[in-house]
Amino acid sequence: MATISLQEIAQHDKKDDLWVILYGKVYDLTQFLPEHPGGQKIILKFAGKDATKAFERQHPPSIIDQYLSPDVCIGQAEVNNEEEELQEEETEEDKRVKLAREKMPRLEEMYNTFDFESVAKNILKADAWGYFNSGANDEISMRENHNAFHRIWLRPRVMVDVANIDMTTKMLGDKTSFPLYISATALNKMAHPDGEKTLAVAAGNQGVIQMIPTLASYSIDDIVGARIHPDQPQWFQLYVHKDRSIAKRMVEHAESKGIKGLFITVDTATLGRREKDMRQKYVHEGPAELQGEELNREGGVATASSGIIDMTLNWKDIAWFKSITKLPIVLKGIQTWEDAVLAARYGCAGIVISNHGGRQLDFAPSPIEILPEVMDALKREGLENSLEVYIDGGIRRGSDIFKAIALGAKGVGIGRPTLYAMAGYGFKGVEKLLQLYQDELEMCMRLMGARTIADIKPEMVDTRNLKDHFVANPTDYLAKNAYEKMVPRGNISKL
Ligand SMILES: Cc1cc2nc3c(=O)[nH]c(=O)nc-3n(C[C@H](O)[C@H](O)[C@H](O)COP(=O)(O)O)c2cc1C
Repeated sequence: MATISLQEIAQHDKKDDLWVILYGKVYDLTQFLPEHPGGQKIILKFAGKDATKAFERQHPPSIIDQYLSPDVCIGQAEVNNEEEELQEEETEEDKRVKLAREKMPRLEEMYNTFDFESVAKNILKADAWGYFNSGANDEISMRENHNAFHRIWLRPRVMVDVANIDMTTKMLGDKTSFPLYISATALNKMAHPDGEKTLAVAAGNQGVIQMIPTLASYSIDDIVGARIHPDQPQWFQLYVHKDRSIAKRMVEHAESKGIKGLFITVDTATLGRREKDMRQKYVHEGPAELQGEELNREGGVATASSGIIDMTLNWKDIAWFKSITKLPIVLKGIQTWEDAVLAARYGCAGIVISNHGGRQLDFAPSPIEILPEVMDALKREGLENSLEVYIDGGIRRGSDIFKAIALGAKGVGIGRPTLYAMAGYGFKGVEKLLQLYQDELEMCMRLMGARTIADIKPEMVDTRNLKDHFVANPTDYLAKNAYEKMVPRGNISKL
């Protein structure tokens, strides 16, 4: 491999002629630039320079071979012995985060999922918060996902022996301690240096299943390697690459690593418009001369994602997936009963009713709202036993899990809460978060007169208001708190 001088590399710093250094190798990213799911600006920032540090903050080294063809690597960068490693300067943002971390409440002070969100808002860098917390457009679907649970009330049964509560269940054939799994969220290193490995540890300790994302910050090998039990089940979420040989390689690799379920994301033909995320990126990233770039980013993001994700994905492809893997296939992102019925007819093992946490199509309905019509349709067609139905989006309380199970879900997924918990408190935070969900579900089951998951029945919930979007929602004071300042430790007495 030819050695290229730093001087030469520095000259290739333009959009139509773009080289960067990663791990000592020189890559010509001119063609890849419009395809980068994270946008063009971050790559342009390092045009002609060494991008390794910034790259490492989000991606595993293995992603280079996964997404770039070998001919994009054009040589070895000359080693710069003279230049001392530049110390990164502490920014105002770094100082703010440091201070906020010092004042963070103790883990024992976290009483519910919203507490973790409040802490995360303060201690995360603005770009990470913007990325995690954002929803599409006006964020109506994002808020509705949780709010819809407020329109379901409970019908508690009493005089039931509830001394022993058993919350265990099976999902895709594997046992879990309660019917909740950790859903796939990309780029976990933005929340915690150990990223998805943190979730593997917490999931193992709490007996729940983790879904590994395609766009993880660590390689699938690292995340599988971080499990604490050799037989700890994990699933793999797939964004279908338009180059099917890449998609096939990913699936085969996941299967060879002992992954137990393939979750194909089907709601992302193009990326939703997440304005909070865009705004943070505009303010916090890159030199001023590149910011005009970002102003035109809408088209850029859409084009970017379409560069990688296969927009032609359709029902006929299920047969292709079945031909390349024995893993149970679950479609993540089903949003109508019609598509649920089709998924069953095409032989999928399951579906996740999901609107991607309200990050894709604003005004897509909340998953809990369409769960009953999905279950009705599957029954009507005699398909209710042919696939497992999961939901995710806005699950923030144990009672939310109860309501979803009552309406027919086999289990529920959570996205943002795990990011917030690990941002503040690492794997211990995620374990506490999972424990809180579990404790709340246990209490809910006890007070509802349900001893086991199988005892949770549709007649235990009152859904008469579920469709009425015009009724006043109870104000969610606790969730609202996430958008206000937390009282720093030691100041409680001043309240
Ligand atoms: C920051 C973030 C990144 C996400 N990344 C992915 C992803 O890479 N693939 C995917 O299928 N879903 C992704 N999702 C969606 C989640 O899997 C899940 O559907 C959603 O977060 C559930 O809603 P909740 O955050 O309200 O719990 C992401 C969600 C968030 C918040």
